[in-house]
Amino acid sequence: MDVKKLIDAAKCAQENAYSPYSNFCVGAALLCGDGKIYTGCNIENSSYSATVCAERTAFFKAISEGQKDFTAIAVIGSDDKICMPCGVCRQVISEFCGADFKIICANKTGEYKEYTLGKLLPFSFTLGENK
Ligand code: THU
Repeated sequence: MDVKKLIDAAKCAQENAYSPYSNFCVGAALLCGDGKIYTGCNIENSSYSATVCAERTAFFKAISEGQKDFTAIAVIGSDDKICMPCGVCRQVISEFCGADFKIICANKTGEYKEYTLGKLLPFSFTLGENK
Protein backbone atom coordinates (compact mmCIF):
# COMPACT_ATOMS: atom_id res chain seq x y z
CA MET A 1 0.00 0.00 0.00
CA ASP A 2 1.32 3.43 -1.01
CA VAL A 3 0.62 5.56 2.06
CA LYS A 4 1.93 8.78 0.48
CA LYS A 5 -0.35 8.32 -2.53
CA LEU A 6 -3.37 7.83 -0.27
CA ILE A 7 -2.52 10.94 1.77
CA ASP A 8 -2.07 12.93 -1.47
CA ALA A 9 -5.52 11.83 -2.64
CA ALA A 10 -6.99 12.89 0.71
CA LYS A 11 -5.25 16.26 0.39
CA CYS A 12 -6.78 16.79 -3.07
CA ALA A 13 -10.26 15.98 -1.76
CA GLN A 14 -9.71 18.37 1.15
CA GLU A 15 -9.74 21.23 -1.36
CA ASN A 16 -13.46 20.59 -1.85
CA ALA A 17 -14.30 20.75 1.86
CA TYR A 18 -17.41 22.81 2.56
CA SER A 19 -16.81 24.04 6.09
CA PRO A 20 -17.96 27.66 6.48
CA TYR A 21 -18.97 27.09 10.13
CA SER A 22 -15.88 25.43 11.60
CA ASN A 23 -13.38 26.55 8.97
CA PHE A 24 -11.79 23.14 9.49
CA CYS A 25 -11.18 21.37 6.19
CA VAL A 26 -10.89 17.59 6.11
CA GLY A 27 -10.10 15.23 3.25
CA ALA A 28 -10.26 11.44 3.16
CA ALA A 29 -9.16 8.77 0.69
CA LEU A 30 -10.45 5.22 1.00
CA LEU A 31 -8.48 2.37 -0.60
CA CYS A 32 -10.59 -0.60 -1.73
CA GLY A 33 -9.47 -4.22 -2.15
CA ASP A 34 -9.51 -3.81 -5.94
CA GLY A 35 -7.08 -0.87 -5.73
CA LYS A 36 -9.66 1.85 -6.42
CA ILE A 37 -9.58 4.98 -4.27
CA TYR A 38 -12.73 6.86 -3.26
CA THR A 39 -12.27 10.32 -1.81
CA GLY A 40 -14.41 12.54 0.39
CA CYS A 41 -14.47 15.87 2.18
CA ASN A 42 -16.47 17.24 5.08
CA ILE A 43 -19.73 18.92 4.09
CA GLU A 44 -21.22 21.17 6.74
CA ASN A 45 -24.75 22.49 7.11
CA SER A 46 -26.38 25.46 8.82
CA SER A 47 -28.34 22.85 10.75
CA TYR A 48 -25.13 21.60 12.33
CA SER A 49 -26.17 18.01 12.93
CA ALA A 50 -26.65 17.51 9.19
CA THR A 51 -22.88 17.85 8.71
CA VAL A 52 -21.11 14.86 7.21
CA CYS A 53 -17.44 14.08 7.87
CA ALA A 54 -14.93 13.43 5.10
CA GLU A 55 -14.55 9.77 6.06
CA ARG A 56 -18.25 9.03 5.80
CA THR A 57 -18.48 10.86 2.48
CA ALA A 58 -15.75 8.58 1.11
CA PHE A 59 -17.34 5.41 2.54
CA PHE A 60 -20.83 6.24 1.31
CA LYS A 61 -19.53 7.04 -2.17
CA ALA A 62 -17.70 3.70 -2.31
CA ILE A 63 -20.56 1.63 -0.88
CA SER A 64 -23.06 3.24 -3.21
CA GLU A 65 -20.81 2.20 -6.11
CA GLY A 66 -20.92 -1.43 -4.98
CA GLN A 67 -17.63 -1.65 -3.07
CA LYS A 68 -17.54 -4.05 -0.12
CA ASP A 69 -13.88 -4.70 0.55
CA PHE A 70 -11.79 -1.98 2.16
CA THR A 71 -8.08 -1.87 2.98
CA ALA A 72 -7.25 1.55 4.41
CA ILE A 73 -8.37 5.15 4.76
CA ALA A 74 -6.23 8.28 4.97
CA VAL A 75 -7.62 11.35 6.73
CA ILE A 76 -6.03 14.79 6.62
CA GLY A 77 -6.96 17.84 8.68
CA SER A 78 -6.19 21.51 8.21
CA ASP A 79 -4.14 22.28 11.30
CA ASP A 80 -0.94 21.07 12.94
CA LYS A 81 -2.61 18.30 14.89
CA ILE A 82 -2.94 14.81 13.44
CA CYS A 83 -6.63 14.50 12.47
CA MET A 84 -8.31 11.54 14.16
CA PRO A 85 -11.68 10.19 12.97
CA CYS A 86 -14.64 11.08 15.17
CA GLY A 87 -16.60 8.45 17.08
CA VAL A 88 -19.46 8.36 14.59
CA CYS A 89 -17.06 7.71 11.71
CA ARG A 90 -15.32 4.95 13.69
CA GLN A 91 -18.70 3.31 14.22
CA VAL A 92 -19.58 3.60 10.51
CA ILE A 93 -16.20 2.14 9.54
CA SER A 94 -16.79 -0.78 11.93
CA GLU A 95 -19.93 -1.69 9.99
CA PHE A 96 -17.85 -2.50 6.93
CA CYS A 97 -14.30 -3.21 8.11
CA GLY A 98 -12.46 -5.56 10.42
CA ALA A 99 -10.05 -4.83 13.26
CA ASP A 100 -7.02 -4.82 10.92
CA PHE A 101 -8.42 -2.07 8.66
CA LYS A 102 -5.75 0.65 8.49
CA ILE A 103 -6.50 4.25 9.46
CA ILE A 104 -3.83 6.76 8.46
CA CYS A 105 -4.22 10.07 10.23
CA ALA A 106 -2.37 13.13 8.94
CA ASN A 107 -1.94 16.81 9.71
CA LYS A 108 -1.89 19.64 7.20
CA THR A 109 1.76 19.09 6.33
CA GLY A 110 1.28 15.39 5.70
CA GLU A 111 2.91 14.10 8.90
CA TYR A 112 1.00 10.98 9.80
CA LYS A 113 0.40 8.16 12.23
CA GLU A 114 -0.98 4.79 11.28
CA TYR A 115 -3.57 2.98 13.40
CA THR A 116 -5.97 0.10 12.98
CA LEU A 117 -9.72 0.12 13.54
CA GLY A 118 -9.18 -2.40 16.35
CA LYS A 119 -6.94 0.10 18.11
CA LEU A 120 -9.29 3.09 17.63
CA LEU A 121 -12.57 1.28 18.33
CA PRO A 122 -12.11 -1.76 20.54
CA PHE A 123 -15.19 -3.67 21.78
CA SER A 124 -17.38 -2.03 19.13
CA PHE A 125 -21.13 -2.41 19.10
CA THR A 126 -22.51 -4.60 16.34
CA LEU A 127 -25.72 -6.50 15.66
CA GLY A 128 -24.10 -8.56 12.94
CA GLU A 129 -20.94 -10.62 12.78
CA ASN A 130 -17.76 -8.91 13.86
CA LYS A 131 -15.67 -8.49 10.73
N1 THU B 1 -14.54 16.30 10.64
C1 THU B 1 -14.30 15.39 9.66
O1 THU B 1 -14.68 15.58 8.50
N2 THU B 1 -13.65 14.25 9.99
C2 THU B 1 -13.12 14.01 11.22
O2 THU B 1 -12.52 12.97 11.41
C3 THU B 1 -13.26 14.99 12.30
C4 THU B 1 -14.18 16.11 12.03
C5 THU B 1 -15.22 17.55 10.27
C6 THU B 1 -16.63 17.70 10.75
C7 THU B 1 -16.78 19.20 10.76
O3 THU B 1 -17.12 19.63 9.46
C8 THU B 1 -15.39 19.71 11.07
O4 THU B 1 -14.51 18.65 10.82
C9 THU B 1 -15.21 20.22 12.48
O5 THU B 1 -15.65 19.29 13.39
